[in-house]
Amino acid sequence: MNTYQIALIPGDGIGIDVIDAAMVVMNAAAGRHRFALETQRFPWSCDHYLKTGAMMPEDGIETLRPFDAIFLGAVGWPATVPDAVSLHGLLLPIRKAFNQYANIRPHRLLAGVEGPLKAEGFDILCIRENTEGEYSGAGGRVHQGRDNEVAVETSIFTREGVERILRFGFEQARARRRHLTSVTKSNAQKYSMVFWDEITRELAADYPDVTVSHMHIDAMAAKMVMNPQDLDVVVASNLFGDILTDLGAAIQGGLGFAASANICPDRSAPSMFEPVHGSAPDIAGKNIANPIAAIWSGAQMLDHLGETGAAADVLSAIEGATRQGIGTRPGRNSTVEITAAVVAALGGRA
Ligand code: NAD
Ligand code: IPM
Ligand code: MN
Repeated sequence: MNTYQIALIPGDGIGIDVIDAAMVVMNAAAGRHRFALETQRFPWSCDHYLKTGAMMPEDGIETLRPFDAIFLGAVGWPATVPDAVSLHGLLLPIRKAFNQYANIRPHRLLAGVEGPLKAEGFDILCIRENTEGEYSGAGGRVHQGRDNEVAVETSIFTREGVERILRFGFEQARARRRHLTSVTKSNAQKYSMVFWDEITRELAADYPDVTVSHMHIDAMAAKMVMNPQDLDVVVASNLFGDILTDLGAAIQGGLGFAASANICPDRSAPSMFEPVHGSAPDIAGKNIANPIAAIWSGAQMLDHLGETGAAADVLSAIEGATRQGIGTRPGRNSTVEITAAVVAALGGRA
């Protein structure tokens, strides 16, 4: 029997509710498919910061390195710890240190879920660059607090970074409907985004079987609302991908449905799985967070571990629940009820 070592970082707010819920489903799937998930829980969070002065210990990255995967809830509790401190102390350094440069975010309408749009039948795979670009962390502030204060935040795009994310996108497109949309803002950003467009054109020559569209981020935002069914694989830089995937979450019915996998494609380090949403302070601790995004992210984790049958079963079980109307509207069912319905659809008992 295969046993996988999973690092759990529930984090803050509803991160805790949804990771606990998703682990119930993961363990049910493991039981049925005869593998085991051995978990170690790390309390790294804003509470941990208030107690220790750090979001994670100094050797946090080295502690996580031997694990087969990391399963994370959400990080951030802005009422007590500034977001720039909490996110730069935990989530963002993990993505970077483990070279999780490909952030895979699928968007489609699950059976029984009514999105806010008339468009049905969309199935978008957003591939977000996850380690550089607008999130490089390069910059600074001078003359702080004075009238002549200046703040600079530099986007860094490397040939290696842009090539590898686009190649990843082309490969995904090949395995799907063979259409790739590259999203930039090269009409205004004349260095980085023109560079990105050039690399897209160069690589397209290696993938003659994939059709390529170039879209600007503003037009893309409109297209996702007007005609999402025309999109297949969408590749975008870190910030643009971040924004588009909350939009993707909205068109699939809400943030409670949007899953995400931070993949280190060469497997030299663990990959990390987490819902797209954050800690949702407005609903934390009320047992009303939708755990489907986290359960779906867990399915991505099982798939990455090679448990493809279990991953497919979890996805079917999610839709088994939503098809019956469970979890399809905010407030309709509790976190615990939705989890139980998914486990029941898997053929087990929560
Ligand atoms: P958020 O995603 O936490 O919440 C936005 C809205 O969506 C809220 O109204 C919330 O109630 C709702 N929502 C989110 N997830 C839901 C779910 N599973 N079920 C039902 N409703 C859900 O975004 P925010 O309010 O901008 O951020 C809150 C905190 O989380 C901040 O500290 C932010 O930086 C952080 N954050 C962390 C991550 C992450 O760790 N990956 C992602 C996004 C935001
Ligand atoms: C996400 C989140 C993070 C991001 C934040 C919390 C830093 O919004 O995972 O989508 O922008 O990557
Ligand atoms: Mn986001």
